[in-house]
Amino acid sequence: MDKSLSERFDLSGRVALVTGASSGLGAHFATVLAAAGASVVLAARRRERLQALVADIEQGGGKALAVAMDVNDHASVQAGFDAAQDAFGVVSVLINNAGVAAPGRFLDGDEAGWDFTMDTNLKAVWRISQEAAGRMVASRTHGSIVNIASILGLHPGLDQTFYATAKAGVVQLTKTIALELWRKNIRVNALCPGYFETEMNGDFFQSDKGAAYLKKIPPQRLGDIDELSGPLLLLASDAGSFMTGVAMPVDGGHLLQSL
Ligand SMILES: NC(=O)c1ccc[n+]([C@@H]2O[C@H](COP(=O)([O-])OP(=O)(O)OC[C@H]3O[C@@H](n4cnc5c(N)ncnc54)[C@H](OP(=O)(O)O)[C@@H]3O)[C@@H](O)[C@H]2O)c1
Repeated sequence: MDKSLSERFDLSGRVALVTGASSGLGAHFATVLAAAGASVVLAARRRERLQALVADIEQGGGKALAVAMDVNDHASVQAGFDAAQDAFGVVSVLINNAGVAAPGRFLDGDEAGWDFTMDTNLKAVWRISQEAAGRMVASRTHGSIVNIASILGLHPGLDQTFYATAKAGVVQLTKTIALELWRKNIRVNALCPGYFETEMNGDFFQSDKGAAYLKKIPPQRLGDIDELSGPLLLLASDAGSFMTGVAMPVDGGHLLQSL
């Protein structure tokens, strides 16, 4: 019998790993995946924050594990996936969410800023996707990879050279590996959020400049973090079983800015 609609969004029995789960969107994604039934592995460098979230998830009846992971360190990534596999089994839902921002004028940028942004926002997405997909293929596990890109991966923004270039790279990486991995039963999609207040941008959105900016953009407000929950689950679960290589904006129409 066909699965019911709610069963298609259900992640019971699946193992999900979220990078950058110690704050902001990543912490929220971890709770959403746990609520959908997945055993969730929370990865980031600030382990004490992860432990607190594990306790919250467990208190709500979910299953979670914290792993200290620096996405720029191959050995640490491998160790994190080993720990996840030992605890729950092969990771079959990967959320590549860890990210950093280094805004500034193109003319003032330097190599350190380029490397800082590209390493975490793009190279690490390649590294971790390869680690996860390799394990899924070896164990014949079907899976889903969701890369957290940005609307800045689809449209340029002033003072965002490094970030927007890295996120555009994430969109193209998503499409390229989706092409290869579909035949291995692994879907790869990108979620492209508009603006949601987190540690990454809180100072700006608390400022007068930030408030003035919000008045000018089509949504005229920030997104509520829970407005990402449905889109994330669609891409992560079998509800999105015929979706791959998609870069999906969730931005209240921000990209529709009138010329
Ligand atoms: N907020 C927005 O409006 C928005 C819009 C579009 C896209 N995004 C994207 O959403 C993702 C999450 O951002 P956020 O807004 O939630 O920002 P955030 O609150 O600053 O969270 C960033 C996360 O990335 C982790 N991280 C950074 N470098 C890492 C490293 N080397 N190894 C492991 N983890 C690392 C941080 O954990 P540790 O420091 O503990 O390691 C933290 O958990 C990013 O990819 C961002 O580009 C955000």
